[in-house]
Amino acid sequence: MAQTAENDAFVAFERVQKSYDGESLVVKDLNLAMPKGEFLTMLGPSGSGKTTCLMMLAGFETATHGEIKLDGRPINNIPPHKRGIGMVFQNYALFPHMSVAENLSFPLEVRKMPKAEREKKVQRALEMVQMGQFGGRRPAQLSGGQQQRIALARALVFEAELVLMDEPLGALDKQLREHMQFEIKRIADELGITVVYVTHDQTEALTMSDRVAVFDDGRIQQLAPPDELYEAPQNSFVAQFIGENNTLEGVVEEIGGNRCTVKLDNGNVIDAMPVNVARKGERTRVSIRPERVEFNPDLGPEAHTLDAQVREFIYMGDVFRTRLSVAGNDEFIVKTRNRADQVRFAPGETVKIGWKAEDCRALDAS
Ligand SMILES: Nc1ncnc2c1ncn2[C@@H]1O[C@H](COP(=O)(O)OP(=O)(O)OP(=O)(O)O)[C@@H](O)[C@H]1O
Ligand SMILES: [Mg+2]
Repeated sequence: MAQTAENDAFVAFERVQKSYDGESLVVKDLNLAMPKGEFLTMLGPSGSGKTTCLMMLAGFETATHGEIKLDGRPINNIPPHKRGIGMVFQNYALFPHMSVAENLSFPLEVRKMPKAEREKKVQRALEMVQMGQFGGRRPAQLSGGQQQRIALARALVFEAELVLMDEPLGALDKQLREHMQFEIKRIADELGITVVYVTHDQTEALTMSDRVAVFDDGRIQQLAPPDELYEAPQNSFVAQFIGENNTLEGVVEEIGGNRCTVKLDNGNVIDAMPVNVARKGERTRVSIRPERVEFNPDLGPEAHTLDAQVREFIYMGDVFRTRLSVAGNDEFIVKTRNRADQVRFAPGETVKIGWKAEDCRALDAS
């Protein structure tokens, strides 16, 4: 997807900073432009600033610096209820003494919407989440997933074009969670609504999103579609945070064009793609995905191979998972498909491993 120009973005954060105590910044320099209809997920460790960003967009927190725009207009001074944004949280807090329909109708009533119109909108919102028959029930008479769907309907009842969701599925068991991921995505696509979704579950982020913003330490570390995040992490944090990853440490020996050679700390030399290193002599951490490593590789005369000791060999049905000691790393993982010709290894065995240089990314050592 092309980078959205900030002036035709539907949602835009421009140089946004946030401090709660007037000293430390929990959001450091946020720049983000979302086109209409995008499903964007903020993913990152606890305390990285995700909820704070959502709260500023919703209007419950003010930005310390910078500007937030909705449909091209600055919204810094617009109160939450006038921003026309729907919200769903982990603790969905339906009113227990009201029926499902009353729960949905209540916010419309507060806005003095006539009864007939209210009823129509409530019914439509319930049908969107396939809960049309449940308007008369109390929340306590619904399953967790059904309650979550009602919470979603309550966010949709205003026909908001932008919906914010903060860990909305956190309280659900795995199966229901996966089902609801699919449902939310389907509803968002069908209605063409723009969604900002917050989670620290990377599978959830990767399966639902058009783009994922990986947060750490109050900054977006990388903003990209899911496949790009996994295939082309731009720094060590993203490489480690998204999916399983092997790292080896060393120093850049030569660098030029799209290749560098790295002398690993144990003396071995390997080829890599320079991604987040700039010069000879710099320390680097190279990153290789477990499924890109080959045993006894035939990669041509130029390629480097490494000796490795097998620590553990685990049969997982569809794949074999081999844990190795390689160049000082005892947690080096290789995944191989379970094929008839795939050799099985015994602990203690010495094997040769290798990979294509383009699958090996030289990243920052930090
Ligand atoms: N109301 C507040 N007052 C002071 N500090 C706060 C407040 N809310 C959040 N913080 C701090 O700001 C930082 C970012 O918090 P935030 O809630 O945005 O993180 P998060 O990424 O949503 O984390 P989690 O995944 O745990 O929900 C944290 O260090 C947190 O302690
Ligand atoms: Mg949070």
